[in-house]
Amino acid sequence: MIDAKTKLVALIGNPVEHSLSPIMHNAVFKKFGMNYVYLAFKVDKEKLKDVVNCFKALEINFNVTIPHKIEIMKYLDDISKEAKLIQAVNVVKIDNGKAIGYNTDGIGALKALKIDVKDKNVLILGAGGAARAIAFQLALNRANVYISNRTFEKALKLSDEIRKKTGTKSFAIPLDRKILREKIKEMDIVIQATSVGMYPNTNETLLYREDFRKDLIVMDIVYNPLETRFLKEAKKAGAKTIDGLGMLIYQGIESLKIWFEIMNEEEMENIMRKVLMEHLSFNRSSV
Ligand code: ATR
Repeated sequence: MIDAKTKLVALIGNPVEHSLSPIMHNAVFKKFGMNYVYLAFKVDKEKLKDVVNCFKALEINFNVTIPHKIEIMKYLDDISKEAKLIQAVNVVKIDNGKAIGYNTDGIGALKALKIDVKDKNVLILGAGGAARAIAFQLALNRANVYISNRTFEKALKLSDEIRKKTGTKSFAIPLDRKILREKIKEMDIVIQATSVGMYPNTNETLLYREDFRKDLIVMDIVYNPLETRFLKEAKKAGAKTIDGLGMLIYQGIESLKIWFEIMNEEEMENIMRKVLMEHLSFNRSSV
């Protein structure tokens, strides 16, 4: 029940109407008996500064989504090491009147993998915002990061930046199936971090069965559909597959840990996955 003690947690972005974060977070608040509500706000760029000041005054913690993850940094008092490297913030905690920015997208992907990535060879397809967060987090955890992107210059630039800023091995690879198939022989993990295969283009995939191996871990960050063509192809080759809900759920769990230090991750994951699956199957054609 909403009463005089109920507190607000917010999401700001534009658009935000299709965000799954309110469903996920409100389900956790309910299950854990926390007197909080999570609401999404559509915010224009020109209003960002006012919104941050308002949330600071009211001590409202919040998430930030597209297109404000970079711009928001101008208005914060401090930024975590990860967010500085990634150059994007998706979580803000108001601490003693100060707004501190974090990035949980990369750690979300890492947690979804559920393995120690140190010294592992990881291939990331894509060099956009999501790929960048994942690549830096992997590098911070001492994985060797290989980046392949349709626009090759972006892959070169990102791998260069990773090498310089983290001192980890990082290489760029052209997005060419023949080259990738050879390279994948040396990989332990492959992460699909482009929008390829996302609804309604569900038949699209960058790689096929013949390109994968059975001892690979293959993750897709696309969660609509849950089992992408890319994951279907990897599964046919016998690889272990991880769907896109993992990253979404774990970036949310990491946000909650920053704000509240709630610890039962397994229970949080189960609740979030349950409500998200219900929502996705109910709204399959509209997400
Ligand atoms: P996000 O924040 O979700 O990562 P983004 O920053 O727009 O979104 O990045 C989209 C990624 O998907 C990019 O790596 C993009 O490749 P380019 O840098 O060459 O644009 C990749 N992508 C999108 N459509 C693609 C396609 N049809 N084939 C290959 N890569 C594609």
